[in-house]
Amino acid sequence: MTSTLADTWGLHEAQFWLRGKQPERRIEFAEELGMWNVYGHPEIETILRDPATFSSDTTRLIPKDLMPDPDYDMSTGSILQLDPPLHNKMRKLVSRAFTPKVVADLEPRIAAITHELLDAVPAGDRLELVEHLAYPLPVIVIAELLGVPAGDRTLFKGWVDKMFESANQVSLVKKDENQDAAIRSSMEGQKALADYLGVHVDERRKQPREDLLTKLVEAELDGERLSRSDVVNFANILLLAGHITTTMLLGNAVLCLDTHREWDERVRADRSLVPPMIEESLRYLTPFAAVARTTTREAEIGGVTVPADQMLLCWVAAANRDERVFPHPDTFDPLRAENPHLAFGRGIHFCIGAPLARLEGRVALDILFDRYPVLRTITGEPPKFQVNPNMTGVRELPLTTK
Ligand code: HEM
Repeated sequence: MTSTLADTWGLHEAQFWLRGKQPERRIEFAEELGMWNVYGHPEIETILRDPATFSSDTTRLIPKDLMPDPDYDMSTGSILQLDPPLHNKMRKLVSRAFTPKVVADLEPRIAAITHELLDAVPAGDRLELVEHLAYPLPVIVIAELLGVPAGDRTLFKGWVDKMFESANQVSLVKKDENQDAAIRSSMEGQKALADYLGVHVDERRKQPREDLLTKLVEAELDGERLSRSDVVNFANILLLAGHITTTMLLGNAVLCLDTHREWDERVRADRSLVPPMIEESLRYLTPFAAVARTTTREAEIGGVTVPADQMLLCWVAAANRDERVFPHPDTFDPLRAENPHLAFGRGIHFCIGAPLARLEGRVALDILFDRYPVLRTITGEPPKFQVNPNMTGVRELPLTTK
């Protein structure tokens, strides 16, 4: 069954409007942004697998006058924006914290947190999925892993909301008041979170504990410890990457089942379908809609020549609807023969947290299905979506349980 969530809920979502505009176009230059939009699956895969030509260091192209505080170097320690060889070293460091065994061992704790959160839902026949479960669960998990108090999560939420509330894209060619305000607000959120984490990093230096922050503080790269700002920025990325996307994964999966009731019944009856259903909802409603790269030299993409030093927005959400790779891309089908979606990226930056996000999704959905035989959206109370066009996900999802 094809359902146009865009029509039903007014969802802005990239995969609809981008591919709807010109499905045959794989790449185009967006004059108003001064960047290239790339939509095709094979084209994006090629880009993500070639870090020498397509660098992740996007900050080098953002004019300094677009930054409210040019001294604040956003790229320090952010693994997402590192290229080889430094990227490989950082990646090795953090991979140790996310080995299959470390992640698998988290399963009982994830189940316990899910039950605790659902036990606390006010009596009645309503569940606000994001507020009661999809937001707090991944935040508590990543906060506990890092070793920062999970009770501070309302603080994180305020800062993170600031960082993502803007619907504006950063344009490389035009600067307006809205963009300035959006960037300033985003940077304020980022700095507040960094200051908060800095306090915890300093504490770990004095008093080590059994947590990821301590491991990062004690970690050595080429015989040298990471700098304070490296550790802070690294923790910052983990805290951010570790929760907002997983919140969207959970909300989107529940929304996909609400709009495809036949699958709701099948998945509830056969829980072995939960993992492929999660993969299909990641394809169908891709949380992190675009990843950015910059060209280090002239390159050909989908038959188009792109000069050096250009910014590329690779719309993985659009690629996940590429009919060359996914037959009937607008059909929600958890049992499709192959599902090589790009929701977690590809190549050297492939999401480190993918096993954790998949585990949280499986455990939480299984428990939700056990505890609530019915979960439905409420007529007159539609879900609310993230306003940032790079994010596809619910931020409010009121459900009835009867
Ligand atoms: C990288 C998506 C959950 C940590 C990425 C990338 C994507 C992504 C698309 C690649 C970015 C690029 O190539 O530029 C998602 C989605 C998630 C999720 C959709 C949930 C559904 C998580 C979790 C964590 C995490 C739970 C950590 C606990 C990271 C890190 C990277 C990353 C550290 C950078 C890896 C590198 O640069 O080598 N994620 N992510 N993510 N993700 Fe996730």
